[in-house]
Amino acid sequence: MIICGHRGLASVAPENTLAGLMAAHQHQLTWVEIDVQLSQDQQVVLFHDQRLGRCTDGQGMLRQHTWPQLKTLDAGRWFNDDFAHERMCLLSDYLSRACELNIKVNIELKLYPKDCVRELCQQVSSVLEALFNQGKFTADQLLLSSFEPAALSQMQQLIPEVPRALLVERIPFDWLAQLQQLDCEALHCQHNALTPAHAQAIIDAGYRVSCYTVNKQSRANQLASLGVHMIFSDKPLKQAPSAEHPAP
Ligand code: G3P
Ligand code: MG
Repeated sequence: MIICGHRGLASVAPENTLAGLMAAHQHQLTWVEIDVQLSQDQQVVLFHDQRLGRCTDGQGMLRQHTWPQLKTLDAGRWFNDDFAHERMCLLSDYLSRACELNIKVNIELKLYPKDCVRELCQQVSSVLEALFNQGKFTADQLLLSSFEPAALSQMQQLIPEVPRALLVERIPFDWLAQLQQLDCEALHCQHNALTPAHAQAIIDAGYRVSCYTVNKQSRANQLASLGVHMIFSDKPLKQAPSAEHPAP
């Protein structure tokens, strides 16, 4: 089972920053998950919340700020003085660095506001096309996910070669139809929502199941035994053997 650093590695370094990517690298993680959204001037930036206040020294809605404004904010001091002056990061810069570090990236598309699907997806696919043209990353080293099926559908049209995963909190009754319709390879759900029967049904149908946010080693071990493909963790948990990735 893969341990994917959640928002980089959110218990070790400020979330969705290059410092978090470095932390994941130092802990030998092979995957990280990040959240992305659009600035007012249509730049794809890493950030989880709609509002700037929790994770920067700025205020108000991210969407109402341009990248030149956002890049002056301190995105690290809130976490720890050691990270003072850490900056927000563009998706393109983050992926270039991840490629150098040989870390694969799950890009979670945040739709703030919900009607920006087309703009966000077009900008993300432009960033990915540019990277591919530079020989950085291949499609299978990335994974796109979203709670918004419309975003996955849009990405399927724009850049179908990059794998997709549907994010849900609870597992919907029509999970199979949704995965089929969006041509997703995986369902990502909250770990408490996953029963052994769900896990088996999803795997038997030929899909991967991954779980967020798992910060306890004992729960990670349980999920591994259910055949879960990947967990998103704020902590550098240890690998647990699983049916899919057995111990050597
Ligand atoms: O992608 C898994 C997880 O990050 C989804 O929830 O709120 O942490 O983005 P959230
Ligand atoms: Mg996320």
